[in-house]
Amino acid sequence: MAETQFEDTVAVVTGAAGGIGRETALRFAAEGARVVVADVDEEGGAETVRLVTEAGGVAVFERCDVSASDEVAALVDGAVERWGRLDAVVNNAGVGGLRAPTAAYPEDDWARTLAVNAGGVFHGTKHALRHLVPAGRGSVVNVASVAGLVGFAGSVAYCASKHAVVGVTRAAALEVATAGVTVNAVCPAFTETAMVDRLRRFDQGLGPRLAQAMPVGRMGTVAEIAAAILYLCGPDARFLTGVALPLDGGLTAA
Ligand SMILES: NC(=O)c1ccc[n+]([C@@H]2O[C@H](COP(=O)([O-])OP(=O)(O)OC[C@H]3O[C@@H](n4cnc5c(N)ncnc54)[C@H](O)[C@@H]3O)[C@@H](O)[C@H]2O)c1
Repeated sequence: MAETQFEDTVAVVTGAAGGIGRETALRFAAEGARVVVADVDEEGGAETVRLVTEAGGVAVFERCDVSASDEVAALVDGAVERWGRLDAVVNNAGVGGLRAPTAAYPEDDWARTLAVNAGGVFHGTKHALRHLVPAGRGSVVNVASVAGLVGFAGSVAYCASKHAVVGVTRAAALEVATAGVTVNAVCPAFTETAMVDRLRRFDQGLGPRLAQAMPVGRMGTVAEIAAAILYLCGPDARFLTGVALPLDGGLTAA
């Protein structure tokens, strides 16, 4: 059953050119879903499609900048036109933003981080619900962060954007609760991806410090995050909506 719980379904995953999004796309495909891999990174997106196909799955790449509502609308509508249905939309695309004190935070980075992280999730949720609510089934999973639950000094734009992701998730979940559609957020702590690699480039000692800061003593893996996303989209999670699920090795328990 586990191998085929998404048989004949259609999933859209944004930010799927690498990291958490790629792993999520691979897992959906491995469990039988047809997957639309969306990203601004065309090379990485094509590589994800190649990996899915090589493993026997079905995926297509669509270039989409999630900060543009019309591009996200076309992405979601295109999935329905191509395969005749929509079951899961994972709004995962995101940027880390700069690290700078709030008093000196650059306005343009603030605007870009909010446009991609908060705007992208709003657009993805909005256009997904246009299809899922009339169909009376389906799931939206928004990838927030522990930075959507607590503050991190030096990351005002990222924290604000991820708190917004949690807000979008809760409001939308309540609106569609009786329609058979769930809307949830996952809140990972530091997970081994290119995003953490970029942080490490600025600060060599960051990796060990991050691992030490985690109660479990290590960072998360993309497999652990993708598994939770698939659970939230699956048949066993129909009573689960409006949550912001920490996937954080105990970080926010302290
Ligand atoms: N890695 C972590 O420690 C961590 C922790 C918490 C939350 N997250 C969140 O997980 C999500 C995935 O990040 P990741 O760690 O896999 O990093 P990543 O950098 O590998 O993946 C992010 C993807 O989003 C894409 N992207 C960026 N801007 C885009 C845009 N405007 N439109 C479409 N695609 C765009 C990138 O090209 C990239 O493929 C992000 O939302 C991130 O904030 C990551």
